[in-house]
Amino acid sequence: KIPLLIDTDPGVDDALALLMAFADERHDVVGLTVAAGNVGLDYTVRNALKLCEVAGREDVPVFAGAPDPLVYPAEDAAHVHGRDGFGDVELPAAARAVEAEHAALAILRLSHQHAGELLLVALGPLTNIALALKLDPTLPQRVKRFLVMGGAITGHGNITPVAEFNIAFDPEAAHIVFTAFPHIEVADWEATVAHGLLHRNVEQWLAADTDKARFYELISRQTRLWSEDSRGEYWYAADALAMAWALQPEGATKVERRPLAIEMAGGRTRGATVVDWNRQTGAADNTTLLIGYDRERFERQVQRALGLVS
Ligand code: BDR
Ligand code: CA
Repeated sequence: KIPLLIDTDPGVDDALALLMAFADERHDVVGLTVAAGNVGLDYTVRNALKLCEVAGREDVPVFAGAPDPLVYPAEDAAHVHGRDGFGDVELPAAARAVEAEHAALAILRLSHQHAGELLLVALGPLTNIALALKLDPTLPQRVKRFLVMGGAITGHGNITPVAEFNIAFDPEAAHIVFTAFPHIEVADWEATVAHGLLHRNVEQWLAADTDKARFYELISRQTRLWSEDSRGEYWYAADALAMAWALQPEGATKVERRPLAIEMAGGRTRGATVVDWNRQTGAADNTTLLIGYDRERFERQVQRALGLVS
């Protein structure tokens, strides 16, 4: 099996992505490193532990990372995910505690343990991975594939006009990561919007009589209502699409390779992902950008994660 390490800030769409990863028979989740982002670190850690419990995967270690972005404070996304990040439904906390090891150290240790094999997937701000890189710049040599949910590759952002949340939350960390790794697969916000899930389908799947569907219906209810009110008939599950591609790369129908750099300054553009579409800078193609993914495959992966199909 392919060892899979997930850095995440759960988060309603993170939760679906994690269920997808647990349900995939070709991958073995070797750890969850938790970032602050959608909500504060106390909540994202609590949610990661809870999700493992619900999925029956308490064997997967959970590591807490940095509580804040590297340099400047950032706003969370509680307006989307709920104050507690899981829809404010007052879930009892998981029985298990978080590991003592820091997330950045766990990333480095697991990269040694699975050197040359590791699939690293980042579903939140890149703070923990940036810290790991500062401690040990040789990390990329041991990672086989690295996939990031983040960015807005033609400048249609979700948190500012041009920036996407995960990158805008910690642009300095994103800069460290995108300059250190020679190659990153990027599933951005615009790919998310191009692969929305119809609310009426999601509602039907979530009505299924499985523990995972029941749990997910509950924690996602508030964010789905918000999404329907503010964005219309499609639900944009960013992290789920990124995870679909990570787990089944053969599902990609179109990708583009291009140089990508992070804007850290800018009166209006901080956190933008600047893609050199016309290759004017002479920089290397450091990213593969997801443009198209087989929609039916994605929907099957989501249904499988919820326990609807085997
Ligand atoms: C990303 O931001 C978060 O709110 C989601 O969990 C996702 O990772 C989408 O911009
Ligand atoms: Ca996320």
